[in-house]
Amino acid sequence: MQPLRKRFGIEADEEAKTYTTSIGFDWRLWPYDIQGSIAHAKMLGKQGIISEKEAELIVTGLTAIRDEIEHGTFELKAELEDIHMNIEARLTEKIGPIGQKLHTARSRNDQVATDMRLFLKDVIEETIGRLKHYQRALLDLAQANKEVIIPGYTHLQPAQPVLLAQHLLAYFEMAQRDIRRFQDCLERADELPLGSGALAGVPYNIDREFLAKELGFSRIAPNPMDAVSDRDFIIEYQAAASITMMHLSRLAEEIVLWSSAEFSFVEVDDAFATSSSIMPQKKNPDVAELARGKTGRVYGHLLGLLTAMKGLPLAYNRDMQEDKEGLFDTVDTLLPTLDVFAGLVRTLRVNAQRARAAAEGGYILATDLADYLVKKGIPFRQAHGIVARLVAYAIEQGKSFKELELKEYQEFSPHFEEDVRSITVEASVQARNPQVERALERARRLVEGEGG
Ligand code: ARG
Repeated sequence: MQPLRKRFGIEADEEAKTYTTSIGFDWRLWPYDIQGSIAHAKMLGKQGIISEKEAELIVTGLTAIRDEIEHGTFELKAELEDIHMNIEARLTEKIGPIGQKLHTARSRNDQVATDMRLFLKDVIEETIGRLKHYQRALLDLAQANKEVIIPGYTHLQPAQPVLLAQHLLAYFEMAQRDIRRFQDCLERADELPLGSGALAGVPYNIDREFLAKELGFSRIAPNPMDAVSDRDFIIEYQAAASITMMHLSRLAEEIVLWSSAEFSFVEVDDAFATSSSIMPQKKNPDVAELARGKTGRVYGHLLGLLTAMKGLPLAYNRDMQEDKEGLFDTVDTLLPTLDVFAGLVRTLRVNAQRARAAAEGGYILATDLADYLVKKGIPFRQAHGIVARLVAYAIEQGKSFKELELKEYQEFSPHFEEDVRSITVEASVQARNPQVERALERARRLVEGEGG
């Protein structure tokens, strides 16, 4: 008979057991479960709820179990439902009936909430570290190509020439906001639920300050009913992860587009590309495509948990066990995506000539021509109209701005003079963006934690 079945006269239905068990995925909480239980046992001993000797025995037993798991000799049992019961049962097996005292003044409800917060705090640190790694790759690529000019787009139509560095720094900013969102999420995850019991608190003289200190939490959850049934911290992580994936997916889309034969602004390094099983000429940006695709499942997990939580009465409900697989998969998707993106970005080869040539096309200097007329005293709206007519004429003639004669310009406005030739993509970029070096330095300081 399983330890939890004593209330019932019969064994659980096999299918019901399989359906409710979570050991298949919550096993990965083991380091946090042991850490939480060690702190709890020490607290019980210190407070005289169990004897100091019993507490020591329990701590020794839990430490030995940690060793067993690390060495792969611990056998997980599906019939024991979850990681908490597995570890507790093994403890009693190892140290005898004293092991049964560990669960004094505790419920699996505050235990699992504590485990999840400990897990998530570690994961957030990891996530921020990987985001910085990815940011460094963006900066390295920007630095190595800091003079490269590309067409800037709106509506995916050539709009104005920009520096590639500026474009990459836009992704840096997105990642910077992502980091701040994860830091903010950490701030709320950093609260201790342990001591809340099943929902109503526990009738023992426990020391939660001690528990918080042992487990590295800055605050103690003030309301036990909220503490056992709050999963906001997981939802917040998933929301931040969704936004991060959305950002990566946008960059992925640009890498796919830019590495196409039609654009050819960049080439994905062979190490990050795949080829086709039928078309020998192909070099496919699968890494970027998969990142774009995987964004969908990360959004899905966010929606999944939001939906699972929306109708739950206070306090704990078993529905909450559904928080785990989605979160684990979110983490297992986001962290490798950040890692692979750092490599993909850092090794991108930029085709400066091709990008520069594209930045010449599409009458991309039209705004500069209008600004030129404004400097000669023409109101901007009028200048805009003159250049619009000039563009229509040039298209009709099949000529670029460069190829137009000065007298053709002058048919549209007498204010066009020889100096109209000084309007180049370089001059355009320079006029709008003289500070890219400073922007790169600021970004570098931010990522290395020296403020901005
Ligand atoms: N496996 C459960 C979960 O993940 C642990 C808590 C179980 N508590 C309970 N009262 N059944 O949520």
